[in-house]
Amino acid sequence: MHPLLNGKRRDKLPFEHWLKKSQDGTMMTQTLYEEGMAYAEQNYLDENASHLHVDKKLIREKFNLDGKNVLDFGCGMGGMSLWYATNFDCQVYGIDIDRHHIRVANDLRSKHDVYNVKFEVRNILDGPLPDQYDFIVLNDVAEHIPLPVLKKIFVALCKSLAPGGGIYVSYPPWRSPYASHVQHVVGIPWCQFLPEHLLIKLIEKNNLPIVGDVESDLLEAYKGLNHLTHNKLMATLEGSGLKPVFRKSHSFINKFSMFNNTNLRFFPMDFLVTKEFLLLKKLP
Ligand SMILES: C[S@@+](CC[C@H](N)C(=O)[O-])C[C@H]1O[C@@H](n2cnc3c(N)ncnc32)[C@H](O)[C@@H]1O
Repeated sequence: MHPLLNGKRRDKLPFEHWLKKSQDGTMMTQTLYEEGMAYAEQNYLDENASHLHVDKKLIREKFNLDGKNVLDFGCGMGGMSLWYATNFDCQVYGIDIDRHHIRVANDLRSKHDVYNVKFEVRNILDGPLPDQYDFIVLNDVAEHIPLPVLKKIFVALCKSLAPGGGIYVSYPPWRSPYASHVQHVVGIPWCQFLPEHLLIKLIEKNNLPIVGDVESDLLEAYKGLNHLTHNKLMATLEGSGLKPVFRKSHSFINKFSMFNNTNLRFFPMDFLVTKEFLLLKKLP
């Protein structure tokens, strides 16, 4: 589900009445701005925020970010960056190519007076990052980037990794019931497997604007997906200097403590995996 919308259609309002201009010149409707703030705030403050509680739980269990220099790559509207910054004694640098997202992130940071986070609009492929990072996170980002570009990004991120550091990647694999990012408006899980022309018609019928300078509605967001799978990600990592050292394939079965460590990676059970988690380290 696109989390911002909570599955509801927003009232259609005349666009020009709702334009809100910021100092950096970005324009977005007042309605979208407020929804963006509310969504990011929920991701920040609510430990059980619908699509992020598994991520938060796993990070708490597996990683201690105290004392770490954290890069939140593709930080979006910053909810998770603020969560890292206030749940651990760490420094966080959140970057994203989308000016609208960074604008919301900066406003939310100011609203909550969080000082150990910095947000910037930045394309890592335009030049090296200012620092080295112990923990680099790509949370729900990798599936949105064309694979040849993602390959270059991993090469650049590897160069920004501090000694002993790791890159943590989470994403819904393409067979996941939610991988289309539009099932909440189409009303059908796994709808990415419908015939393309039918799915596009269904999305067009239910299309909605979303906060985004780069992708500003659900149809664009769907078309921007790279249909990521574990094998495609492994192929993307070839030559990057990175290798996986941990993998978890999360599904509903992990709710039951006796199946906590079960990974449903075999066909057809892999269609029930909702999220893949990977930790990458530099090759020796
Ligand atoms: C679904 S959002 C996830 C945001 C955030 N990580 C979270 O968990 O809430 C994906 C984000 O990736 C960003 N993105 C896509 N391509 C990018 C790139 N090449 N460099 C930086 N950010 C990128 C998008 O602008 C968007 O904000």
